Amino acid sequence: MTGAGGLSGRRILVHVCGGIAVVKVPELLTTLRRAGAVVRVTMSPGAQAFIAPMTLQALAGGPVATTLLEPPGAAPAALGPGHGMAHLELGAWAEVQLVVPATADMCARLALGLADEVVGATALACPAPLVVAPAMEAAMWEHPATRAHLATLADRGARVVGPVRGRLASGRDDIGRLAPVEALVLAVTDALKAAPDPGRAPDPGAPPSPLAGTLVLVTAGGTREPIDPVRFLGNRSSGRMGLALAVAARRHGAEVVLVTAAPPPPPAPGLRVVEVGTAEEMLAAVRSVLPRARLVLMAAAVADWRVAAPAGEKLRRAGRDRLRLDLVPTPDILRAVVAERPPGCVVVGFAAETGELEGPARAKLRAKGVDLLVANRVVGPDSAMGGEGAGVLIVGADGVGRRVPFGPKSEVAAAILDAAARLAGPPDHG
Ligand code: CTP
Repeated sequence: MTGAGGLSGRRILVHVCGGIAVVKVPELLTTLRRAGAVVRVTMSPGAQAFIAPMTLQALAGGPVATTLLEPPGAAPAALGPGHGMAHLELGAWAEVQLVVPATADMCARLALGLADEVVGATALACPAPLVVAPAMEAAMWEHPATRAHLATLADRGARVVGPVRGRLASGRDDIGRLAPVEALVLAVTDALKAAPDPGRAPDPGAPPSPLAGTLVLVTAGGTREPIDPVRFLGNRSSGRMGLALAVAARRHGAEVVLVTAAPPPPPAPGLRVVEVGTAEEMLAAVRSVLPRARLVLMAAAVADWRVAAPAGEKLRRAGRDRLRLDLVPTPDILRAVVAERPPGCVVVGFAAETGELEGPARAKLRAKGVDLLVANRVVGPDSAMGGEGAGVLIVGADGVGRRVPFGPKSEVAAAILDAAARLAGPPDHG
């Protein structure tokens, strides 16, 4: 993997708390470790009611601190000579700390500096930048007490990532869901960038990515083509692959513009989000950024058809036994990008397929004139559409295909960015 701006060798302390969003922590730990980070974990008593410390120990690749009063010798040995007290050693060791899921209770504890269990005590003993990823029911998130505690943490410099809107433990669709893993990784990466460890020499073996300092344009989500003021033609795209690509591009040191038809991710440095609805709007947003782009990743699931004349008023059911929609084609954004791109701009197209991948991938590569074509299956148990994972076939202009096995979208996105960065070539200093 290209090392610029990455997490390789960085010391990340993950404080795990007791909420149902803890189910996302295994993927987070795996993603951080695959990016080369060294990860240590503390778990609140609540977290241990949800998930076994042994599980997180296996995924973090090191000891997990579960209590303030560790038996002698149980403090993480890899941390070097110290006091044998996990909260002090971990606090001094970390370059960045992430609280996930940050429950309402833990937000209050952190704001007040309570230290009667291992997460609060370690966070208090840790001078490293703090990233807080809240997840809770909407009513708790919106309560003035929680708002005040979050404001206190933000005033002290903590980065708050999420929550986002989505399905909550209660079954309701509302604000309070943990931000996607990709957004958490992005926040940790940015926290590390903002506060680099002065003792950390740059790795002479890691050349800068050709994408460092360039502008990368990513499209995401499924466009919505109106039928009437309340209905639209849409698809199942969640926008997660586009967000994962944006995060991966940030890790290459690029500035990213994410043009998305999906709910926008939480704000993050180096990431500009442009929200759009229809294919026409997406095309306009893409065109406004394209002249400065070094790489375009066209991950959006763009509708191919729109209603020729959407109704101005809600279409009523009464008085009809059939409704016909007159559909006309939307603009092919990818074709426009290929035709209008600036010199040296690499273009990556995606193919959503319900059958075999190889044939359509090569055909779309040629038809659209892109530099790379990423084909993914969008039906069945390993469907890339709407889910957390994907498995793809990346085909280059030479027709050679490379399979990336099914895994979290963050990992698949990293593989796609590495392939695109190779095509972008050495940095252009002209
Ligand atoms: N795309 C686009 N504009 C459209 C339709 C698709 O830019 N109006 C882009 C997608 O973002 C993707 C690529 O074209 O990068 C391929 O999309 P896909 O839906 O797989 O293919 P289509 O070109 O729509 O062809 P088909 O639906 O016949 O498979």
